[in-house]
Amino acid sequence: MMATLLRDPHCEKPMSSGLPNLESFVASLPRLTLGQFPTPLVKLGRLGDRLDLDLWLKRDECAGLAVGGNKTRKLEFILADAMAKGHDTIVTAGPVTSNHTMMTAMAARRVGLTAHCVVGGERPRPLSGNLLLLDYLGATLHFSPADFRAPTAEGVHRHQALCREVVDETGGYWIPGGGTMPQAEPAYMNAVAEIARQRGGVFDFDRVVLAIGTGSTTTGVLLGLALGGFDCRVDAVATANRAAIEEVFKRPDPTRHFLKSVTHFDLPLGAADVPPYEIVFGFAEEGYSVPSAGGDRAIRTMAREEGYLLDPVYTAKAFDGLMTMVGDGRIPKGSRVLFLHTGGLSMTSVSDQQFAPPPV
Ligand SMILES: Cc1ncc(COP(=O)(O)O)c(C=O)c1O
Repeated sequence: MMATLLRDPHCEKPMSSGLPNLESFVASLPRLTLGQFPTPLVKLGRLGDRLDLDLWLKRDECAGLAVGGNKTRKLEFILADAMAKGHDTIVTAGPVTSNHTMMTAMAARRVGLTAHCVVGGERPRPLSGNLLLLDYLGATLHFSPADFRAPTAEGVHRHQALCREVVDETGGYWIPGGGTMPQAEPAYMNAVAEIARQRGGVFDFDRVVLAIGTGSTTTGVLLGLALGGFDCRVDAVATANRAAIEEVFKRPDPTRHFLKSVTHFDLPLGAADVPPYEIVFGFAEEGYSVPSAGGDRAIRTMAREEGYLLDPVYTAKAFDGLMTMVGDGRIPKGSRVLFLHTGGLSMTSVSDQQFAPPPV
């Protein structure tokens, strides 16, 4: 279903205040209820004082469904589309650590769908972490030989071929890794609207800092800011090094996804409306999903100063990026900064075993 937005006949831009436009657009889309919203928006007073920031945390790890996070928001829109198209099976894919596959299988079960997951990597014995949860959920697992920590073009190619095979065999609705598809973008447009409501109708942060994998969450935030008419910068901290990001995440390109969604939803936006953003590298040089010393420091700092947990694969690296960027002046002191917690906590307890290099 396409949204009807208010347009001034003399102007390409949406008419009137952006927030009602943003909200009416999101409300016009098919959506299931899987999570609990709004998620809390909390001030990080002690950490903010330490970093000399007006620092806030959007707690999407509390979004529910299972362990919360960005997938809960995205899946409300994605599965609504799958069901509207009459599917009873979904097929998706991700690495052995994937939150996305686990959350997708959980959401599928919640609404009575069957889940098939193509998992890149070897089947560990015994299963642990998200793989064990996938097993509890009765998802059918198909292992491909792709190692997402140090991906090769050949491994990724074979992974993709297996995905196509499973879709052909099951006739299932295909959900790309990370839930990166235009249908998912309204999820974080809605999060922007939700945050603006929590701030009394304005999105009054100087910048948003979040973790980027496939880029779909970042794109949703950018679309929400643009449609809402909010002036804010986005720092998306890469959770893989440049080499891995090419192979694993297919070079996340929020501008390209932004324009794709503009066309898909017929939004009154163009390339000039993409808010300022940067993909920030340097915080996941060990490779995708490999815990880092900086990430470990970030987890401990957040836990000890504020009593909130970060996950080792995504949010810890993003928060390491935030702290470093404050230290080197890329984020000016005194800024009002929103750190978007995108979840992933189900990876915490197994990160050490699962990512340790094999013994030599
Ligand atoms: C916990 C968590 N944070 C952030 C991301 C990155 O989101 P995106 O792939 O939309 O960039 C993911 C998934 O990829 C995730 O599982």
